[in-house]
Formats: sequence, structure tokens, C-alpha cells
Amino acid sequence: MGPVAGTGVSRGMVDMAPEVVPPRADAGRSRACFMTSERLGFGTWTTDDDALATAIWGDPEVTRLSGGPFTPVQVRTRLEAEISNLLHHGIQYWPLFRRDTGAPVGCCGLQPRDPAAGVLELGYHLRREAWGQGYATEAGRAVIAWAAARGVPALFAGHHPQNHASGRTLRKLGFTYTHDEHYPPTGLLEPCYLLRLTDEGG
Ligand SMILES: CC(C)(COP(=O)(O)OP(=O)(O)OC[C@H]1O[C@@H](n2cnc3c(N)ncnc32)[C@H](O)[C@@H]1OP(=O)(O)O)[C@@H](O)C(=O)NCCC(=O)NCCS
Repeated sequence: MGPVAGTGVSRGMVDMAPEVVPPRADAGRSRACFMTSERLGFGTWTTDDDALATAIWGDPEVTRLSGGPFTPVQVRTRLEAEISNLLHHGIQYWPLFRRDTGAPVGCCGLQPRDPAAGVLELGYHLRREAWGQGYATEAGRAVIAWAAARGVPALFAGHHPQNHASGRTLRKLGFTYTHDEHYPPTGLLEPCYLLRLTDEGG
């Protein structure tokens, strides 16, 4: 997509008070977070994040319904794609950290979907230990607010037909089912949703 007005993360970093989330006991470094929700901090991916990326996209259970399992090379490619999205579009599936402990929770954010219409895709991948605690809903709400504040007209999302948790989360976030669509990584028809954020959206 062409940059949507104000979607540069550098701008997001200045208009959201930055916070440094403490490192967990077994992790090396604290993370600067450009956005926070009640329990979560949103960081950005760096080239040093192989271990964190592997803890998410290298886990076959996490990726079971989104085209996994992925090899280490595929995980690295995904990490590089996220870094590229930040550079070129100002968005990522941003890495999430617990604000209290610094523990990595997963990722949630945006990627390009329909450049001509300025529509972005919302997604989330949480570590297994973080499921069932309301984190996807909390993170999704923060990302929607981030997009709405920057004039993004609409968000798209889709999920594996058996991913009931993802479908439920999307509906809780206000998304409406629109159609089924072929998703190459799984080879399946997947339900797709839209959330209009402005009168122009969709
Ligand atoms: C899908 C995923 C993001 C959900 O995250 P989560 O933090 O566990 O979700 P939440 O706790 O916010 O729950 C959201 C809703 O889904 C419901 N839900 C959770 N697991 C469910 C399941 N297995 N089946 C049906 N509903 C489920 C919750 O009960 C909640 O609804 P409620 O408030 O009405 O009770 C998480 O399971 C995940 O990361 N999975 C692996 C990656 C993935 O599949 N990502 C989506 C790709 S499209």
C-alpha cells in the first residue's frame, strides 16, 4: 500500500508515550514500546529477534491453522518481511510484551491488504502460554484504535475455517463476515471479514 497518512511508526512513537518494558528473568533486554494497552506493550521487530520470532512462528501449535509448521528459514523470512513492512509501510505485526514482567506474548498488528483502497489487514499470533487470557482482544482493540487515529478507512481480516478462537475474536472486535477467499498458505477457502473505520471504508 502507499503510505496512509500518518501511518509512519516514527510518528506513532512520538504521539504515544514511549514505555520501556522490563526484561523477564530469562530474557536479555528490555524493550522500548511505542504503544501500550492495559497489560501489553507493543514493540517493533529488529534483525536481532530470531529467538523471539522462533518462539512464535517456529512453534507448530501456534502456526497450525495459518500455514505452518515453518522452517527456521521461513521464520527468518517472516521476520524480515515484518521489518520491511515497518520500513516501507509504517506497520508490522508488532511484537507484544507483558508490561509487568516483560514476557513475550506474541504479535498483533497490521500488514498491507488493498493498497488502492488504503485497507490494511489485522492479524495476531500469540504464544501458546498466552492463549485464553483476553490478550488477542486487548491487543486487537489497541491496533484498531491506532489505525482509526490515522484515518485508515477499513481493516480486513481472515482465518482458517477451524480457527474458532480467531473468528470469535474478530467478531468481538467488531468485524463483519464478508466472504470466503482462497488462502494460498493453507490451500483452503477462509472466511474473511471487514471492519469499517470511516465512511469511505469498504
Ligand atoms: C486465535 C488467538 C489469537 C486467540 O487469542 P486469545 O488471546 O486466546 O483470545 P481471547 O482470549 O482474546 O479470546 C477471544 C474470544 O475467543 C474465544 N475463544 C478462545 N479460544 C477459543 C476456542 N478454541 N474456540 C472458540 N472460542 C474461543 C474466547 O472465549 C473469547 O470469547 P468470549 O470473550 O466470548 O469468551 C490465539 O489462540 C492464537 O494466537 N492462536 C494461534 C495463532 C492464530 O491462529 N492466529 C490467528 C490466525 S488467523
